[in-house]
Amino acid sequence: MLPQEIIRNKRDGRELSGEEIALIARGIHDGSLSEGQVAAFAMAVFFRGMTTAERVALTKGLTASGITLDWTGLALPGPVIDKHSSGGVGDKVSLMLAPIAAACGLFVPMISGRGLGHTGGTLDKLSAISGYDVRPDIATFRKVVREVGCAIIGQTDDLAPADRRLYATRDVTATVESIPLIVSSILSKKIAAGLDGLVMDVKCGSGAFCDTESMARDLAESLVAVANQAGLPTVALISDMDRVLGRNVGNALEVVEAVEYLKGEGTRDPRLHAVTLALAGEMIALGGLAPSPAAGRARAEAALNDGRAADIFGRMVAALGGPDDFLERSNRYLGHAPVVRPCTAERSGFVAGMNARDVGIAVVALGGGRAHADDAVDPAVGLTEVVDLGAPVRAGSLLCVVHAATDADAERAIALVRAAIRIEDRALPERPMIMQRIAR
Ligand code: URA
Repeated sequence: MLPQEIIRNKRDGRELSGEEIALIARGIHDGSLSEGQVAAFAMAVFFRGMTTAERVALTKGLTASGITLDWTGLALPGPVIDKHSSGGVGDKVSLMLAPIAAACGLFVPMISGRGLGHTGGTLDKLSAISGYDVRPDIATFRKVVREVGCAIIGQTDDLAPADRRLYATRDVTATVESIPLIVSSILSKKIAAGLDGLVMDVKCGSGAFCDTESMARDLAESLVAVANQAGLPTVALISDMDRVLGRNVGNALEVVEAVEYLKGEGTRDPRLHAVTLALAGEMIALGGLAPSPAAGRARAEAALNDGRAADIFGRMVAALGGPDDFLERSNRYLGHAPVVRPCTAERSGFVAGMNARDVGIAVVALGGGRAHADDAVDPAVGLTEVVDLGAPVRAGSLLCVVHAATDADAERAIALVRAAIRIEDRALPERPMIMQRIAR
């Protein structure tokens, strides 16, 4: 079977067999497919789509290109469950959720990514903590998961390496935004992590890859169908990303918000709290440690409120090379931007809309994200006290606080944030935080 014949079949809209897809995945990994063929395959899938059976085959083929972690040898006293988010602005949920889930008896080996485009990445947030090793060896990763209950690290070279090549090609050939390719890419890595179950947080709105509900539903339904057929029990929540999630955006600043959340300092942002607990409830129920997501949620809330989750976060940071007293003295171990400036409203009214994507781009422009894959990220910059949708504002009142490296950067970010926030005479109706739940 020649790769070009398989690509031709897909180009002409035919369903590929499992064997054909396995050959493509092998060829991506072993280099027998040229760069042009990988790109042509991705573009053919982009235009022609894939059936669920094809998506399952591609997922399995990408997984088979590397190792699959096996947790059975560790005789863990609880299920191995993870959560994955499709990405948003201000999405620091993983930092709180992994320790909450671990405090409830789950084991959470969370392999997370760097920031992509306007969305932040959990890896960049944790890299803001001095000493935290986001790339430990697999033995250390396993040890921390076993002893602490959770470990959040970066992608390793051994899990689904074919996906790395395919993703890099998609990135430069305008084929990232393909639901079959996204589903296979995400799930191949999650299956390779050897999980007993997965909860997907599919973000929907201006700050997300899926900006419409129908697109978010397509992605969530496909993730659930493909994962379950590939043998990974999976539930998806579609959650709102039509505004910044929480109050802070930017790597170190989001760690600060997560630590305050875990320690119960100040007021927890209600929408951040709602999505974190909803996901925790799903994880705990999926792992069989509660009879329903609602019962799981109650357990999660107890573990948060009595400080167990905060304690686990502190232990995870220390076990991965960060400071032993990070929870107590996080400020000492996180960078601080030299310029801190208020961004104020130019008119009075209500915050009626927020283009979360543009807010994310303002943070990238501050240096908090990457314009190019190999750019360095400034962990200290970003926004705090971002105003919520529906809030009443007066001319001159605070929309957010900008943390920047220079005055010029701060000025530019202030202009971008003002343009991203729409103020009108009346507030619009609230959109629920959890928009839909999709299970098999
Ligand atoms: N995240 C991934 O891992 N893969 C995609 O294709 C998109 C987001």
